Amino acid sequence: MPKIDITRTELVWPGKYNEDGTRTEVAKVSLPFQVIETVNESRATREAKKEGVQEGLFEVYDGKEGDTFAKGWQNKLIWGDNLLVMGSLLEKFAGKIDLIYIDPPFATGADFSFTAEIGDQGLEIEKQQSLIEEKAYRDMWGGDRSSWFAMMSHRLSLIRELLSPVGTIYLHLDWYVGHHARPVLDEIFGEDNSLGEIVWAYGSPSGGRVSGAKLVKSHDVIFIYAREHGKHKYKVVYRPYSEKYIKDWFKFDDNDGRRYRKRWRRDERGVSDFEKQYLDESRGVPASTVWSDIQQAYADPRAYKAGVSSEITGFPTQKPEKLLQRILEISSEPGDLVADFFCGSGTTLAVAEKLGRRWIGCDLGRWAIHLTRKRLLGIENCKAFEVLNLGKYERQYWQGVTFGESKDKPLAERSLYEYLAFILKLYGAQPVPGMANLHGKRGKAMIHIGSVDAPVTIAEIDAAVDECAKLKQVELHVLGWEWEMGLYDLMVEAAKKKGVKLLLLQIPREVMEQQAADKGDVHFFELAYLEAEIKKLKKLGTQVFLKDFVIPNTDLIPDEVRGKVKKWSDYIDYWAVDWDFRNDTFMQGWVAYRTRKDRKLPLASDPHTYEQAGKYRILVKVIDIFGNDTTQAFDEEVK
Ligand SMILES: C[S@@+](CC[C@H](N)C(=O)[O-])C[C@H]1O[C@@H](n2cnc3c(N)ncnc32)[C@H](O)[C@@H]1O
Repeated sequence: MPKIDITRTELVWPGKYNEDGTRTEVAKVSLPFQVIETVNESRATREAKKEGVQEGLFEVYDGKEGDTFAKGWQNKLIWGDNLLVMGSLLEKFAGKIDLIYIDPPFATGADFSFTAEIGDQGLEIEKQQSLIEEKAYRDMWGGDRSSWFAMMSHRLSLIRELLSPVGTIYLHLDWYVGHHARPVLDEIFGEDNSLGEIVWAYGSPSGGRVSGAKLVKSHDVIFIYAREHGKHKYKVVYRPYSEKYIKDWFKFDDNDGRRYRKRWRRDERGVSDFEKQYLDESRGVPASTVWSDIQQAYADPRAYKAGVSSEITGFPTQKPEKLLQRILEISSEPGDLVADFFCGSGTTLAVAEKLGRRWIGCDLGRWAIHLTRKRLLGIENCKAFEVLNLGKYERQYWQGVTFGESKDKPLAERSLYEYLAFILKLYGAQPVPGMANLHGKRGKAMIHIGSVDAPVTIAEIDAAVDECAKLKQVELHVLGWEWEMGLYDLMVEAAKKKGVKLLLLQIPREVMEQQAADKGDVHFFELAYLEAEIKKLKKLGTQVFLKDFVIPNTDLIPDEVRGKVKKWSDYIDYWAVDWDFRNDTFMQGWVAYRTRKDRKLPLASDPHTYEQAGKYRILVKVIDIFGNDTTQAFDEEVK
């Protein structure tokens, strides 16, 4: 047996090393970001910044902004897998982020179920994790812990590169992987950079938590590492004295009622005397590594009542703002850049916003991004922020990695063919060769598939409808990733006149997640139907009225809840208007949404007054109770 030279303590897991004994490298992918929405920013400010920026369906983030709010910095909420997102941030943000807090999932799958509320009464529906989500989740984050380490170690390496020289990482875990994560962190950040661990004792054991023959879990651990020990930012924060402490120590008082404690000092001559430390001048107890004064978000009884104000968003693994507040106060200052790449319901970002830090947040989940956007909007004087994704670039990357990339024409054609065949298979359809605009067939329906890097256009749909009509085919399903903002219902009507029943279906993001695709359990939902009326008012005024909204995926809603839904508007959670859409980024000009406290949703926007007459494209965006958005464009002439 060969002798193995073991020279250090190390945790290994499958996939850590290549076959030749070298370390597996982090796949660093740098893709451009698309700015898909801006919030709380005026058109004039945006346009001023946009000079020289390339036109397209979405604006591409050019990273030219300054690094202070005064120099035009905008906070960022990014929808996508953090591995690609962090890789893509490196070019502009390597060595720039002062504090990163992450609270990654650990194999419980809890984040896939969520409680959504419907309508004015706030009926709760719980969307349970589907089998496929559960499988995808376990494969990615580890039913066994080994894949968790493969995933996390690459992400932690990227985090290290993103941290500034004065920066700190806080990694929130619990007993399940915490003990194993520590040696991995030592390896990536260096043992000497460890700043210890926080035990967050979040609540006292209650009857409900007692299960099995083991002690009741009532704490999490948070590991802290500096990018460079000694350079890292650190501020002592104080917690108020307990009543008992005051009673035990501040037991003296001046006759005017001021309480003090005695601090004994010895002078140079060795003579002891005491100084008075007054209670009203004392800062409290410096925070230690055990935090037992912050309860879990859901320990707040208000969490369980709809219609009451609390920080609860309904996100199952939401952490309390107090916890993040303390972390941000210890390791960052106003104006610093703070990030959370597993942001969930956006707790870190909400706290960063309130404390005047700059922030970047990222999450994979559509629902998480939606909740976070609403949560931020609810903060008084929330500064402008933008919502980004890697959109078509992520899809191009996926297409290249999955089906091969080539400048050589026959190979490129083969890779396109394979892409089409893959989507057709997921949709349960067969390829049909030799057609100009039709790619496959399912039952009696012909299928057209949009490309990964361009929205499906009206002209493209028209051509497919015409080909169907010519071939006397009566049904057409168009599957697309993105859509030219347009008049879908009119397209459906026009196709009907040509004898073709037209269905427009969304290709879901999960198609790119291998485990989901392998299982073949991917849902293609029909685009929701949205009807709105644009009313012209006097003196350059306009107002939008929502008239109808139909979501096709109501089968996700339990029957008893569906029975109680009274109106079409109950399915709407949020809607917004861009008064002057320029075919790039959606600029939120007016918005209304439901909160847990206030379930009412107006169906008429506030009136909007244009500065001058002209032709404008108004874009109306509706987000349903599942976080899916539907947009409709209206071309209007304002006089
Ligand atoms: C435990 S939750 C975070 C909760 C958060 N701290 C809060 O207070 O709401 C973990 C989050 O990580 C997200 N997530 C999991 N894998 C991810 C990935 N590869 N990229 C980005 N986000 C991911 C999940 O969607 C989930 O929202």
